[in-house]
Amino acid sequence: MSFSMMRYPVILFTAALIPFGTCFKFIDCGSQLGQFTNIAVTNCDPTTSAYCKLKRGTNVTLTVKFTPNQDITEVKAVVHGILGGVPIPFNLPNPDGCKESGIQCPLVKNENYSYISELPVLNVYPKVKLQVKWELQTEEKEDIVCFELPAKIV
Ligand SMILES: *[C@@H]1O[C@H](CO)[C@@H](O)[C@H](O)[C@H]1NC(C)=O
Ligand SMILES: *[C@@H]1O[C@H](CO)[C@@H](O)[C@H](O)[C@H]1NC(C)=O
Repeated sequence: MSFSMMRYPVILFTAALIPFGTCFKFIDCGSQLGQFTNIAVTNCDPTTSAYCKLKRGTNVTLTVKFTPNQDITEVKAVVHGILGGVPIPFNLPNPDGCKESGIQCPLVKNENYSYISELPVLNVYPKVKLQVKWELQTEEKEDIVCFELPAKIV
């Protein structure tokens, strides 16, 4: 039996150990003026779950580590829930990324920042699966970072 013939069962065995749909990756949806290096969401482990559970009546805390590739004066958070391809705006109590968000403006090129935000999950929200699109934008509405994560309101 040749080595190349042996590879097949090894691959099949490895695939069987990683059941499809039990993990996810944060998708970059067009970060332009920066890059995110780490994202953390309350009670959400992308290595063991297929989506983040957003529990109604709680505040979900999101932390994003990112590095801008140029100096930036203002940072504004824009959040959408995408349902069946239709983006619906999520209102943040504090969309101003320069205020009480763990970062100091203006941002300096190539420095590392850790942005923290609270997303209230209201009791009136329907229990649906959706894609959350989160953008940090400049005053010119250019994306510093943009990422998406699969979520379910529970
Ligand atoms: C969520 O945060 C808001 C504002 O920061 C606060 O008023 C509210 O009490 C919090 N809700 C919960 C359930 O912790
Ligand atoms: C930012 O973080 C990266 C990796 O985490 C590190 O290599 C780099 O030196 C840091 N830059 C600054 C300005 O601290």
